[in-house]
Amino acid sequence: MTHRLLIDTDPGVDDALAILMASAHPGCRIEALTITAGNVGLGHTLANALKLCEVADIDAPVFPGAPVPLVAVPEDAAYVHGRDGFGDAGLSPPSRRAESEHAALAMLRLAREHPGELTFVMLGPLTNLALALSLDPSLPERVPRLVVMGGAVSGRGNTRLPVEFNTGFDPEAARIVFDRWPRFELVDWEATLRHGLAHARCDRWFAVDHPLARFYDTISRQTRIWSAGLRGEEWHSADALAMAQVLEPERALETAERALTVELAGEHARGMTVVDWLGRGKRPVNARILLSYDRTRFEQLVQAAVGAA
Ligand code: RIB
Ligand code: CA
Repeated sequence: MTHRLLIDTDPGVDDALAILMASAHPGCRIEALTITAGNVGLGHTLANALKLCEVADIDAPVFPGAPVPLVAVPEDAAYVHGRDGFGDAGLSPPSRRAESEHAALAMLRLAREHPGELTFVMLGPLTNLALALSLDPSLPERVPRLVVMGGAVSGRGNTRLPVEFNTGFDPEAARIVFDRWPRFELVDWEATLRHGLAHARCDRWFAVDHPLARFYDTISRQTRIWSAGLRGEEWHSADALAMAQVLEPERALETAERALTVELAGEHARGMTVVDWLGRGKRPVNARILLSYDRTRFEQLVQAAVGAA
């Protein structure tokens, strides 16, 4: 089966690895990249997506999306990914050009042109998808699979206490998506923490004599050094784990089906994913939450992404 992917993304170092994983996978075709602000501003995330398509020879249109979230404008994650989102590596500007169509409109058009055939993969804040859903609430009828990287299902976030970056960057967008998309798959930050990649192994993979390994070593070096100082021997690549789930869902070892939403208010809780673990609420089950994935296969998919397999 070929996975035909629309990838919504805020590249971002881990976004880049996820996109390279999809590009390298024989059972996958990247149909479009839709770009949002998030890790860094839209100017950088768009340029990074175009540069990545150029370096990896990805033949897919790149659509610019939302430059800001729906309501508040929070801090970005430049401290993780570098000011330019790609490790401040000083890459030359991309030669590829973005499409003129807005990402949200491209989502609606492509879903109408290919009903029942596309998987939407969300690797950043959900602003573009929320805009698309607001323009056409029937969108989920034409998109059989939605996979979201986001949230922290037991309150262990990576920004303010219980909040994960993607849902925290645009909580209103996340609320719209989680309330209006009947069923989706969620790969959260806590699953990412359980599936760390040993820095020593990553160093070996990204040192192989392959242009993609060299490129990825360059853009990821800064964030891997930062990560080692903060979290020790393992590097945590959230979007890469989400892409593994997209590409080979049969390798998931354990999942949980629960009702999930996003808190919008609260000094500490705004942007927090709230999961009805005990099934006591009235909300319908909407999320299949990844709890455990085949780590060996995850690492093989990462290696293949950079030509180190
Ligand atoms: O919390 C991790 C997520 O936030 C990843 O998608 C990362 O790229 C950032 O967007
Ligand atoms: Ca991302």
